[in-house]
Amino acid sequence: MKLFSSVNDVTNINALVKEALALKADPYAHQDLGKNKTLALIFLNPSLRTRMSTQKAAMNLGMNVMVLNMDKEGWALELRDGVVMNGSTVEHIREAAAVMGEYADIIGVRSFPGLKDREQDYSEDIFNKFVKYCGVPVVSLESATRHPLQSLADLVTIEELKTRPRPKVVLTWAPHVKALPQAVPNSFAEWMCKANLDFTVTHPEGYALNTDFTKGATITHNQDEALQHADFIYVKNWSAYEPYGKVFDGNEDWILTNDRLKITNDAKVMHCLPVRRNLELSDEILDGPNSIVVHEAGNRVWAAQAVLKQMLEGLS
Ligand code: CP
Repeated sequence: MKLFSSVNDVTNINALVKEALALKADPYAHQDLGKNKTLALIFLNPSLRTRMSTQKAAMNLGMNVMVLNMDKEGWALELRDGVVMNGSTVEHIREAAAVMGEYADIIGVRSFPGLKDREQDYSEDIFNKFVKYCGVPVVSLESATRHPLQSLADLVTIEELKTRPRPKVVLTWAPHVKALPQAVPNSFAEWMCKANLDFTVTHPEGYALNTDFTKGATITHNQDEALQHADFIYVKNWSAYEPYGKVFDGNEDWILTNDRLKITNDAKVMHCLPVRRNLELSDEILDGPNSIVVHEAGNRVWAAQAVLKQMLEGLS
């Protein structure tokens, strides 16, 4: 594997999930694979889980790891071609990415959307320029439109904890005060639609995701109807795709409660984290027996390790 930016880069998702679970059972089985190989993790935005889990995954494989918080510690990057750089940018991505490729065998990049210009964000301009100019395999640490390491960890968690062969999984919109990206729900939907499960997306009117990501899903504005017989509920806020980045007033009653859990099949509750308590998810859910959010975050290590292992195996 030379690129991990979406589910479409994976030849066999079942095999990758199995690989992640095998690594969970025996984390240090491939310590020689990454010997004398270096992973560079480049963050243009903050992170807790992605940074620590990917770093741990790489160390489990025997790799060296370098982390650069580009937004705080790096030079201000220019992305446009042909411009006179007489403003605030100091270094062009052509040189910056190429130099990183000299130091690392694999590069991970996190680059969030601006949520102002939909075409710009959905073109994945920043992420694709890193891929184009660095010259080494690249793993997405969350881009403008997708978060594939999160989605793989989510699928691993569902496979691990499901109690029937084809569980019902519901992605539900949740309230928030800020405009958040669509990357996590896009990506989750895209992975769930390719997995062998019954998948429903529910959200208030106005929050429809780009249909490229939800093909094959059942979509409804009726949250109670969606939650019936659910085995897993994935809670996440996102801002509107159309008009892009908009947050509408109201919909606070979309928060998941223990009362709503009663209509499910004793559903396990997931969230990618970080989560704003009592805004996106209630204390009673997060501190209750149905929450698996910390377990899910733990599985980020095995998802990252499975991807890095495949990348290392492909290095010449
Ligand atoms: N879920 C997730 O990606 O967490 P971080 O933003 O902390 O990495």
